[in-house]
Amino acid sequence: MNKVRIGAIGSGYWGPNLIRNFVEIPDSELVVVADMRQERLDHMKRLYPAIEVTTDYHDLFSMGLDAVVIATPPFTHHAIAKECLEHGLSCMIEKPITTESAQAADLIALAEQRGLKLMVGNTFEYNVAVHKLRELIESGELGDIYYIDAIRTNLGLYQRNLNVMWDLAPHDISILLNVLGLDPVSVSAQGGKHIAPSIHDVVYMHLQFPNNIMSHIHVSWLNPRKDRRITVVGSKKMVVYDDVEPLEKIKIYDKGVDAPPYADTFADFQFSYRYGDVITPFIKFTEPLRMECQHFIESVKNGGRPLTDGVVGWKIVKILEAAERSLQNGGEQEAITMNDLHIAEPAL
Ligand SMILES: NC(=O)c1ccc[n+]([C@@H]2O[C@H](COP(=O)([O-])OP(=O)(O)OC[C@H]3O[C@@H](n4cnc5c(N)ncnc54)[C@H](O)[C@@H]3O)[C@@H](O)[C@H]2O)c1
Repeated sequence: MNKVRIGAIGSGYWGPNLIRNFVEIPDSELVVVADMRQERLDHMKRLYPAIEVTTDYHDLFSMGLDAVVIATPPFTHHAIAKECLEHGLSCMIEKPITTESAQAADLIALAEQRGLKLMVGNTFEYNVAVHKLRELIESGELGDIYYIDAIRTNLGLYQRNLNVMWDLAPHDISILLNVLGLDPVSVSAQGGKHIAPSIHDVVYMHLQFPNNIMSHIHVSWLNPRKDRRITVVGSKKMVVYDDVEPLEKIKIYDKGVDAPPYADTFADFQFSYRYGDVITPFIKFTEPLRMECQHFIESVKNGGRPLTDGVVGWKIVKILEAAERSLQNGGEQEAITMNDLHIAEPAL
């Protein structure tokens, strides 16, 4: 395979970012864009006169493509990706991979059976700041991890069939799974619906991980500030990853509180507070979406398993499903089991 011939399905808000990258990556050839809206296709054609455009993605099946990238609304992902896989096309699907875990399992089975690549667009897993965070946790520099706090807020783009948790929390969940290398065991979620009658626009999730690590995720479409911040508190050091910061995204705080080894009464307790340096490591930043698209092209071309494969996408949907049950049940804690990826034989 020389260049990977790729088609893009969906060129709304996010699709053009993917299209730009696949046009620019030397090993990929962006052949065609499909979108139901002609005005979006006209816009794409103005930007890239050499590409084909179509309002019917079924046209892609007779164009000699190797792969597709799907950036349509999440509730359409399963049906579109299933047809693409059935026509021998590897798929990169925007997050969340599907809106039901059974649908994700179906796509995983189909891709396995056909020897095709299935990847979910967890952009932050291709972000060098997230890699630095994982390195700091893995190396033990932060000590035992006590908790992780994640916030992702702004005045958001309200979605019709999807609440803010399904829209924004996939990013934070993917970061947590990546940096901790652990799957959560339970989740609870509470939230509010303020603008649209049946759609949560603010959600607070609590995830419990093994090793007594807890995590809190706050997502909102109704907040005056654009915040994308993750705070990791460890027994030795603490880290703040602020994605809104243009340059100094990671700050390592040599701060902590130590309790005395032994005390008879609380009055005897002499906490010692540690105030050390704040270090901003130099991180050479590259566009995460470029890394993500490049990774997909490489895995289609060279046969490797994508870092954010279908199983990662499935896990995130499993967590969101449990969180959604909790959201509907007034915040009850829901257990999460990850040992039930029964990949049914897909119907041929
Ligand atoms: N990775 C990220 O940071 C990021 C950011 C934003 C959105 N997203 C994801 O990208 C996906 C798309 O989101 P968006 O905000 O661009 O949505 P959007 O509604 O702006 O665009 C979706 C486009 O898909 C088209 N479409 C819908 N059904 C189609 C079909 N059957 N055939 C052809 N075209 C069809 C629509 O006409 C529309 O132009 C979602 O999964 C979303 O979660 C990811």
